[in-house]
Amino acid sequence: MKIAILPGDGIGTEIVAEAVKVLKVLDLPFEMETAPVGGAAYEAAGHPLPDSTLALAKAADAVLFGAVGDWKYDTLERRLRPEQAILGLRKELGLFANFRPAICYPELTHASSLKPELVAGLDILIIRELTGDIYFGQPRGRRTAVDGHFPGSEEAFDTMRYSRPEIERIAHVAFQAARKRNRKVTSVDKANVLETFQFWKDVVTEVHAQYPDVELEHMYVDNAAMQLVKAPKKFDVVVTGNMFGDILSDEAAMLTGSIGMLPSASLNAANQGLYEPSHGSAPDIAGKGIANPLATILSAAMMLKFSLNQPEAAARIEAAVQSVLSQGLRTADIYSEGTRKVSTREMGDAVVAALTGA
Ligand code: NAI
Ligand code: MG
Repeated sequence: MKIAILPGDGIGTEIVAEAVKVLKVLDLPFEMETAPVGGAAYEAAGHPLPDSTLALAKAADAVLFGAVGDWKYDTLERRLRPEQAILGLRKELGLFANFRPAICYPELTHASSLKPELVAGLDILIIRELTGDIYFGQPRGRRTAVDGHFPGSEEAFDTMRYSRPEIERIAHVAFQAARKRNRKVTSVDKANVLETFQFWKDVVTEVHAQYPDVELEHMYVDNAAMQLVKAPKKFDVVVTGNMFGDILSDEAAMLTGSIGMLPSASLNAANQGLYEPSHGSAPDIAGKGIANPLATILSAAMMLKFSLNQPEAAARIEAAVQSVLSQGLRTADIYSEGTRKVSTREMGDAVVAALTGA
């Protein structure tokens, strides 16, 4: 089992170190190799995704990724910015399915944006399509308008598009994920206004015929945004396009309290995947040793489950995380009165202790 470790920038190095520590005590035959990515790679090799890093990622069964980015790179031309490394990895590895679970641990309901009773026990999975939609559709650009409300004026335009195979494969992923959970999929669209999403709805409905044991509901994205804050526990698996998924997954993150708790996975057709916390490089707290490493540790658990076929080891990690929360250990982002504030490293050590029974 080969794992590419790409810590990246900011808190990336701090949190990935804790996740690696946790992986090491599992006593499984991992081959882990580390490479620079993002701003760190730009400094070292002049490019955010050097060929050697990409080759390592491609050869691995899975990539454990920290985070990339820093304000100081904002003035670089776009292709050299740290964030381009993620887009490059998604493209080169063919990652099309982004899994973002939103789980609210009973100990952390106070940190949610919602009332505790609405989120206690929340466990939903948002699946975002990553390759299509308005983010990548061509043509796009700026031009002089020839029609519309202001002909002759400067305008900008993008193209929203989805192909049948793109929708089919993400629909299969969603129905299969639902089978391992509570057998309900909500497909989010804007079919009332957009042809692209009427097509999305039609294709998802067709694929659903192969999954009669899974319940399918369709919901418009504006309603989904409302329902997520009104009654989030009614969802199980939510599947949607690239842009709606981007927005709804961040909304769902806030229901759980802290972005520091949320893992994510991006998978390709061969179940090879990139696993990373849902948050960024947090330059505001980098180097202080206070970042929450649990999102990255939980991402490592997802990696064991989805790409490395080690569901038992994954469950052990998840139980260890639950255990440290039950013990009252908290990094600053999830701290509340009556609990014990710990550093990044102490949190990692506590997870290791819970795993090894030390
Ligand atoms: P961010 O997620 O890095 O930080 C947002 C806020 O959450 C900050 O106050 C930060 O301190 C806090 N936070 C984030 N992770 C935390 C953790 N593990 N523990 C405790 N607190 C945590 O988002 P922001 O500030 O918008 O972006 C910072 C940089 O990260 C930018 O350069 C951005 O482009 C990059 N970024 C990278 C991503 C990636 O590598 N996949 C994803 C999102 C942003
Ligand atoms: Mg986002």
